[in-house]
Amino acid sequence: VELNRRSVLLGIGAVTAFLAVDLGAVAYANKWIGPDNALTRESFLNAFRSVFGTHLGFRRNHAKGVVVTGHFDSNGNGSELSRAVIFRPGQTPVTGRFSLAGGNPNAADAAATARGLGLAFAFPDGTQWRSALLNLPVFPDNSAQGFYDRLLAGKVVPATGQPDPAAMAAFLAAHPESAAAMAVIKKHPPSPGFADSPFSSLITFHFVNDHGARTPVRWSFVPQQQALAPRSGGSNTLFDALIRQLRSGPLQWRLILTVGAPGDPTTDATLPWPSDRRTVDAGVLTLTDIQTEAAGNARDINFDPLVLPDGIEPSDDPLLNARSTVYAASYRARTGEPKSPSAVQVDKVAP
Ligand code: HEM
Repeated sequence: VELNRRSVLLGIGAVTAFLAVDLGAVAYANKWIGPDNALTRESFLNAFRSVFGTHLGFRRNHAKGVVVTGHFDSNGNGSELSRAVIFRPGQTPVTGRFSLAGGNPNAADAAATARGLGLAFAFPDGTQWRSALLNLPVFPDNSAQGFYDRLLAGKVVPATGQPDPAAMAAFLAAHPESAAAMAVIKKHPPSPGFADSPFSSLITFHFVNDHGARTPVRWSFVPQQQALAPRSGGSNTLFDALIRQLRSGPLQWRLILTVGAPGDPTTDATLPWPSDRRTVDAGVLTLTDIQTEAAGNARDINFDPLVLPDGIEPSDDPLLNARSTVYAASYRARTGEPKSPSAVQVDKVAP
């Protein structure tokens, strides 16, 4: 246990050291998003502010969250697909963050809000694998423009407290791929809590093995437990249940790699792959500790999906560059702003 805890701490140290020089040098230089140069990182920051208001110091999206730490035990099976260190047999420390989609850090938990999990795996050579995953079966958009248009169409009109139905109808008419994806999402209602949610990449990446063979892969962390029933009352029902459950013991997810077949879409995250695709069970993620967002923990990590280890490569999915650019802009903005306490305070949750 002692060794394990020490390696987890080392892992966090590595994350912090890496962050100091990271800051998205590439992503931040890459100002333009999308093929037609119509959108910039500022377009997105402005859109988030217009839809959610100004919340200094918080993420522009997935603003409400809580920090977790643990480790990943690899069984070695993933090495068939990727030479990444994480897939060799052994243990890798991880720091992560559970979140709810949306830019309001004080929003009340709601079952229908998309749940996020950011993970940063730290390797002994100082390299990392970062990813940001969702509890959805597909992503609602297949382009940065689609994400931007949907964000604005969902803006709440003060008079009604609801988004403008005409704006949403116009969005869906202009983005049939999102209408189709939302129909898939509707058929997969969310589980009761964080602990029993699957968390998936949705986007395709290319795994490269020791022989140089490249394979399209999507991955999911599949929950190994049921969720503690949320207690009624308060606005943090989902987070509170997660905190109480983690206090009574570790939570586990199995990492399942899904192998794409020729012809499967690799650049469109709105399209599911057929359900009979081959899978590889690569090991188990165990989360052991939960902490309030604070200086130096995952509050200050940018879960940029393009921070990849050797053996995992990006696909041509246009969401990847858009995310990397916008996450870097959000990170740069929020780390330069004054901080206020997060809505989820682990120590204030009753046993
Ligand atoms: C063009 C598409 C997207 C845009 C513009 C976008 C934007 C953002 C922004 C601005 C943040 C906050 C970053 C920070 O300050 O650290 C964020 C966080 C997050 N996003 Fe996205 N996102 C997009 C697509 C996706 C996709 C496809 C997924 C997952 C499959 C995803 C999952 C997450 C998660 C889990 C977080 C929270 C990570 C954390 O705890 O820091 N996003 N997103």
